[in-house]
Amino acid sequence: MKIAVYPGSFDPLTNGHLDIITRSSKLFDKVLVTVLTNSTKQPLFSVEERLDLIRRTTKHLKNVEVESFSGLLVNFAKEKNCNVLIKGLRVVSDFEYEFQMALANKSQMPELETLFLPSAQEYMFLSSSIVKELARYHGDLTGLVPPEIEQDIRNKF
Ligand code: PNS
Repeated sequence: MKIAVYPGSFDPLTNGHLDIITRSSKLFDKVLVTVLTNSTKQPLFSVEERLDLIRRTTKHLKNVEVESFSGLLVNFAKEKNCNVLIKGLRVVSDFEYEFQMALANKSQMPELETLFLPSAQEYMFLSSSIVKELARYHGDLTGLVPPEIEQDIRNKF
């Protein structure tokens, strides 16, 4: 069985994330969407809230599971016997950071491969930070986040 881990902070999930999850679910037998802590960011949503938002929006994808993990991503991958990480790439600025992460993760687990999926063109500018900024000032979130979680995001502000 081919398993892939799609890690992130998902604070909150966006349509860009959902697009990567959907495409990955067609490439692998199982995709584990994993909520992890990014030590450089102060999250708006609790881990439990993020899990709930992701579960509600991916429940139609039968080979997608959603979990959280605290600690190093490679330890989660080892625990799950998985050696493929999926990362979405938007712009050139993502590449530098993600390349560094891929090599750092590989230094801890040499058999681990990071697969980069290019973002869909319509989501190239999209990030959880942009969504939070728009929501904070009552901007239009149509097409940027799954409709079933839009109100949860608005309720935070
Ligand atoms: O969505 P993000 O914020 O870009 O996701 C980054 C994340 C959470 C995947 C990354 O920070 C991470 O893997 N955190 C867990 C700790 C870890 O393993 N760091 C990488 C090795 S230094």
